[in-house]
Amino acid sequence: MTGRIPYTKPSITELETRYAADAAANGWGAACYDYIVRFEREFGSYIGSDFAIATSSGTGALHMGLAALGIGPGDEVILADSNWVATAAPIVHLGATPVFVDVLDETWCIDPAAVERHLTPRTRAIIVTHLYGNLAEMDALLALGRRAGVPVIEDAAEAIGSMWGDRRAGSMGLFGTFSFHGTKTLTTGEGGMLVTSDPDFYERVLTLSNHGRARGQTKQFWADEIGFKYKMSNIQAAIGCAQLQRIEELVARKREILASYRIRLCVLPGVQMNCELEGTVNGAWMPTAVFHPLTGITREALQRGFAAADIDARVFFHPLSSLAMFEDRRDNVNAWDIPGRAINLPSYHDMSEDDIRRVSETLIAIARGEGRRDARLSRSA
Ligand SMILES: Cc1ncc(COP(=O)(O)O)c(C=O)c1O
Repeated sequence: MTGRIPYTKPSITELETRYAADAAANGWGAACYDYIVRFEREFGSYIGSDFAIATSSGTGALHMGLAALGIGPGDEVILADSNWVATAAPIVHLGATPVFVDVLDETWCIDPAAVERHLTPRTRAIIVTHLYGNLAEMDALLALGRRAGVPVIEDAAEAIGSMWGDRRAGSMGLFGTFSFHGTKTLTTGEGGMLVTSDPDFYERVLTLSNHGRARGQTKQFWADEIGFKYKMSNIQAAIGCAQLQRIEELVARKREILASYRIRLCVLPGVQMNCELEGTVNGAWMPTAVFHPLTGITREALQRGFAAADIDARVFFHPLSSLAMFEDRRDNVNAWDIPGRAINLPSYHDMSEDDIRRVSETLIAIARGEGRRDARLSRSA
């Protein structure tokens, strides 16, 4: 064993530090928004969206977007039960009700049929999270949204680099949101982005993002309504510009790491990794192994084994409806069952092949030591 293997860490080169130092030294006064404007323009263009607004977090981007839709008390917003709590928090902050629905066994993303079953006259939005880089079934979800007259929103916090046909994750719904938290493929430390191609919606979010001051407002310090202050700093945006210049390289390395795990772990029967449906590209943010129920392998056994090997592997998101502040929805069978037999594996740009081998060998040893041998697995793996 040769030291702890972290879960994720960013790739910061001389380019990022040079841009950040430039912003710190010169990005003030008239130049105080230069990197922000550039990051928004270049990010929008990379995603294929006409407009982008940089924010202090992905959560803030989602909060403002939902507020711009006028979502409030009495409204329902449908989202997957397998999610980070950040996706639900803005709904609750606005006084609306999150409606948690099940995910598909193959993609771990929201099940379109479950969405359809939960539509009511009070449904105001469907939030689609592309979990761990896996893509949700966008054709079905967009068609459903159109039929129901309900906007589809993409939480693409974990999906930079993922593509549905020729469209990038985040560019297909009314708006998309991203996170640049330090664990993400593209990072600014903390940060986020809202993207959209709808000019009216963009103006609405822009006003809200500026403490409720409309673009045309000429009176100084005059707010037309109560808005938000979820801005990204120029120094963070400078780091973002450098990371975006390297985005192809950053995503390619994440994909290589996932591919390497896939090859090394294929010797194990009954293990399922992030899917890549035909015609899609998985940005591979978080390599995740889900064990078939017949293997008998549990999250707890995986956590114990990885902790003993000094490897920082993390648990699959708990279903949000299992949290104390929400109503229990254990009929969301996949969302409730998968986490108990799954684990997130370390993945970061500078991870060596030796480290990937060590993680894989540890996983294989845990599975062989703790798992059941069931003849049916060779058929179901
Ligand atoms: C699925 C999902 N949604 C939303 C967020 C929120 O992003 P942030 O942490 O930048 O607020 C995250 C990131 O942690 C996430 O993984």
